[in-house]
Amino acid sequence: MFPAHRPRRLRTSVAMRRLVCENFLRIDDLISPIFVVPGSGFAKEVVSMPGVYQLSVDKAVEEAQQVADLGIPAVILFGIPEQKDAGATGAWHDHGIVQAATAAIKKALPDLLVLADTCLCEYTDHGHCGVIVPGDTVGKVLNDPTLEILGRTAVAQAEAGADIIAPSGMMDGMVSAIRRALDAAGFMDTPILSYAAKYASAYYGPFRDAADSTPQFGDRRTYQMDPGNRREALKEIRLDIAEGADMLMVKPALAYLDIIHQVKEASDLPVAAYNVSGEYAMVKAASLKGWVDEERIVLETLLSMKRAGADLLLTYHAKDAARWLTR
Ligand code: PBG
Ligand code: ZN
Repeated sequence: MFPAHRPRRLRTSVAMRRLVCENFLRIDDLISPIFVVPGSGFAKEVVSMPGVYQLSVDKAVEEAQQVADLGIPAVILFGIPEQKDAGATGAWHDHGIVQAATAAIKKALPDLLVLADTCLCEYTDHGHCGVIVPGDTVGKVLNDPTLEILGRTAVAQAEAGADIIAPSGMMDGMVSAIRRALDAAGFMDTPILSYAAKYASAYYGPFRDAADSTPQFGDRRTYQMDPGNRREALKEIRLDIAEGADMLMVKPALAYLDIIHQVKEASDLPVAAYNVSGEYAMVKAASLKGWVDEERIVLETLLSMKRAGADLLLTYHAKDAARWLTR
């Protein structure tokens, strides 16, 4: 008890604080998202995500170059196809936009890891993460028929050079379906980062502007998780581990730090946290108004995710964070 214990003794100087610091951010942990669109020479800022752009493939390669130059090890690609249809053709076609961008980025930057988000919502005309019965007006996604398309999509992405397959659609059995499809195509060494505990969240709003993937009817609550549920996240990760996931993701991050912590405790796989679009937009808006110190807010927020247990951070702040961490 006081006066024997004085915790402030270990906070007296910069050097002392460095010595006892428990958690750090590392550039090595960052994954920077890129939104790819058709065309060339095209760059358009996403209105609700200042500093984030929809980029044509040539511009996406330039963006990937900047990411690599900052020492960030990986990008994750999201695609907006020329045309959307009921069968999500743009997702699995050899000439799909993510496949084209992956090939171009890997050609220019072989050492930069390319993650492919594997989902159908950007490619279906109705904006749901899988196929539906024709005429459906509520968005009841058919699970098992969707698995076959996800497997095909993952193989097309791997063939284009994707280093990591990241399924985000919250379909039951998606990890095992993708594992089987990859193995059958000879990609037994391509890892799967499963969006294992992904909640039906309002924090995805700005992303859906960026990826043009807002459901045309209904919502995603029949496949994404209920924000009130914690134990269900354990069920989801247990299943994904059993199905062969190599890494697990929790999404969103900031409002779900308890889930990140619990997933880390419950598994021995690397855990990724997705600092999603709405989290980015809130920080960006307050920063632009001059209401918060952007650098300190961003680094503290990302650090909270590491402290909760995240090993990897997917964040739209990745390039800024890398610059700040380098200084
Ligand atoms: C696609 C997908 C989404 C996000 C990542 N992959 C959107 C959604 O599920 O509606 C959200 C990412 C973000 O908000 O930054 N399934
Ligand atoms: Zn989706």
